[in-house]
Amino acid sequence: MTRTDSQLPSGYPLVRGRRNRCSPSRRAMLAEHRLHPSDFIAPLFIAEGKGVQDPIPSMPDYHRLSLDLAVRKAASWHQMGIPAVLLFVMVPEEKKDNEGTEALNPDGLMQMAVKRIKDTVPGLTVMTDVALDPYSSYGHDGIVQDGEIVNDESVDVLARMAVNHARAGADYVAPSDMMDGRIGEIRRALEADGHPGTGILAYSAKYASGFYGPFRDALDSAPGFGDKKTYQMDPANVREAVREAQMDEAEGADIVMVKPGLPYLDVVRAVREAVHVPVAVYNVSGEYAMIKAAAQMGWLDEEAAMMESLLACKRAGADVIATYWAEKAVALLNES
Ligand code: PBG
Repeated sequence: MTRTDSQLPSGYPLVRGRRNRCSPSRRAMLAEHRLHPSDFIAPLFIAEGKGVQDPIPSMPDYHRLSLDLAVRKAASWHQMGIPAVLLFVMVPEEKKDNEGTEALNPDGLMQMAVKRIKDTVPGLTVMTDVALDPYSSYGHDGIVQDGEIVNDESVDVLARMAVNHARAGADYVAPSDMMDGRIGEIRRALEADGHPGTGILAYSAKYASGFYGPFRDALDSAPGFGDKKTYQMDPANVREAVREAQMDEAEGADIVMVKPGLPYLDVVRAVREAVHVPVAVYNVSGEYAMIKAAAQMGWLDEEAAMMESLLACKRAGADVIATYWAEKAVALLNES
C-alpha cells in the first residue's frame, strides 16, 4: 500500500512542538544556535598612568585601565578562552589636534599597549581601533577642513595609523571611521610596509547611532560640532549596508562588521547572506548600558537579558560578537 497524505501526521493533536522542549537535554540537543567562549571580542579601554582603574559612569562595571592593569586583564581574558581584544585608547586633551598626530606616534599609548599585550599574552589576538576621534580636537573620525570631514586626506592618515599598529604587532586593524576607500588603501599600505599577515576587521556598516553615548563618555570622544551623519550610515538603510560590506570585502577586508547590534540584526542577516568573509557584530555601549540600567532598577534580569541578546546576534548570522559582556558571558558559559 502506498503512503497517502492522510496517513501522515497533520497538525495537532499528533504534532506537538512541546515534545522537543520538555527537558533540558532535549533542548540542549536541539538548540539551533549556541554561544561559545570563542565567539567573543572583548573591548579594552586603555588610559595613561599606572594602577589606574577608572569607572565609566554610563557603563557600570566597565573600566578604563592603565597599561599595567590592562595587560593583566588581557591575560585573564585569554585564560578564560576569549580569543581577541579590541583596543581603544583615551588620549589626554593636550595631545589632540586636527590631524591626529599622536595617532602616528610609534611610542604612543596604543602602540605600547599592542607591544605589551603581545609580549605578555602572545596567544591572544590583538585588534586595534583605527579612527581619529580619540585623537581629534574636534572629536571626529577624520580630518576637518572648513567644517567638513574630508575623505581622502583622512584615509591617508588612517592608512599610516594602520601601518603603525601593524609595526607594533597588531593582529588585526579595525577601521571604525566609515571613510570611503579606506579598506583598500589600508590593505595596500600594509602590503607595502611588509605586513601581509595583518588582517582588517572592517566596520563596514556602522550607523550614525544614538547608542554610542557611553563609549564617547569612556573616551571623552564626543564630536565637538555637528554629528557623524556625513560618514556613518543612515539607520533607515539596509541595501546600503550590503553594498558597503561587499565593497569592503572586495577591497580586502578579512572580517566585516555591523554596528550597533540588537537594533540592526536584520542588517547582520542581510550582510551574512551577501558576503563570504566572516561577519562580526558590535553589541555597543548603549546596548550594554540599557540592560545594566534596567537591571540596577530591578526591572530586568541582567544575565538573562545579556545571554539572550548575545544569542540573538548569533541567530541573526554573526560569526563573532564584540561586546562589553564578553567576560561575564564567558564566565557563565565556562560554569555550565
Ligand atoms: C569611534 C568609535 C565609536 C565606537 C567605536 N569606535 C564611537 C563613534 O563612532 O562615535 C562606539 C562603540 C560603542 O558605543 O560601544 N571611531
